[in-house]
Amino acid sequence: MWKLVFVQVYPNNVNEQNLSYKETPLIGICVSDTKPEFRSVAVKRLQSFPHNTTIVIFRIQNLNIAQLTVIGDILEKKAGKISKKKGTLPLPDVIYIQCLIDPILVNKIEKQIGRMIFNNFIFDKWQGWELLAGDCILRDHLPNTWKIEREEDLLQPLNSYKDIFLKPIDPIYGHSGRGIFRVKLQNEGRLEVFYWKEGEMRKEKFKSFTIFWSMFSRGLLAEKYIVQQSIQTVNVDKKVTDIRLHMNKNSLGKWEVSTLLCRVATNDSHISHELHKIARIKLLENLLDSQIANHDDWERAIVNLGFQICNVFDRLGYHMADLGMDFGVDQNGHLWIFEVNPLPYPYQLPNQQNAFCKPIEYALYLALKSGFDN
Ligand SMILES: Nc1ncnc2c1ncn2[C@@H]1O[C@H](COP(=O)(O)OP(=O)(O)O)[C@@H](O)[C@H]1O
Ligand SMILES: [Mg+2]
Repeated sequence: MWKLVFVQVYPNNVNEQNLSYKETPLIGICVSDTKPEFRSVAVKRLQSFPHNTTIVIFRIQNLNIAQLTVIGDILEKKAGKISKKKGTLPLPDVIYIQCLIDPILVNKIEKQIGRMIFNNFIFDKWQGWELLAGDCILRDHLPNTWKIEREEDLLQPLNSYKDIFLKPIDPIYGHSGRGIFRVKLQNEGRLEVFYWKEGEMRKEKFKSFTIFWSMFSRGLLAEKYIVQQSIQTVNVDKKVTDIRLHMNKNSLGKWEVSTLLCRVATNDSHISHELHKIARIKLLENLLDSQIANHDDWERAIVNLGFQICNVFDRLGYHMADLGMDFGVDQNGHLWIFEVNPLPYPYQLPNQQNAFCKPIEYALYLALKSGFDN
């Protein structure tokens, strides 16, 4: 048993007046200033978790590997009430990563606390694609994808598919359709380009690839990009759809579905910040049953694909327990994987608390399994 030392001023000026004793495992949630929204999400996680527990929300700069301490916001939940203090604590029993982190540092922390860091691999879109493409079942569900380094890297897929997506690789920069361009090749080399700007989906026409490239290449090459074959997903009200599947490990250490939703875009290109509609997966099932001859158990097929993805991470030795997956179904009923997100933002909808509190359940499972003993 160790004592929590709450401090008013930090880092070295420890005030030991307020002492409390550890009753539950300490869960650390590592956040950063580049994704500040995960700080408030961490608080919501504790609010939606029904039992007493203590979390420390900290930035990686405030973890001192030499002294085995961490400085952060300590939130203690007791009898439904949450108290908050800033303080210095010993390293948490379990750490949940909610920011970009250097894998070398993850390794160093694992040497101290064991394999108790989860979502320990915050990958970019290219790393994610390469990793999943190594699995022969998943490969069939992945749109062909390349990294863009030069003009030719874009020209070739554009000429063969006539319709491509350009996506920023960086998981911090790119999300909710930010920085994405859908480029369609028209007659006589003209292009139609769709991108989200100032609250709407823009459609811009270019007379040639050269004109498009001269306008966009600086931005495309400054941010690293991938190019991907476009998939025409089934439409609702002439608007494209996709699927959000959020999976988490639970209090038994097993993957389970937290959220499964169908999203309808505001437009006929792709999903971005705003949605026309968010619906139960039944909406998509009804649509598929009416449009596609081969009736199937769609929900089961989607969830099975999710399990297959989670199992690949487990098999390769990554310690993941919180994954957001964006899928789509094309006009032939084939399921496609657009993205797997290691920093998924939970949907704040009624009856969708699981995506918030499962990571805490899993953290407690890990701590107790490893022999936490107060
Ligand atoms: N290859 C594709 N074909 C068709 N639609 C796509 C494709 N890739 C992405 N999309 C659409 O664009 C959305 C945003 O792309 P995604 O890869 O998830 O990036 P972000 O990080 O911005 O969420 C997806 O949810 C999907 O609706
Ligand atoms: Mg996405």
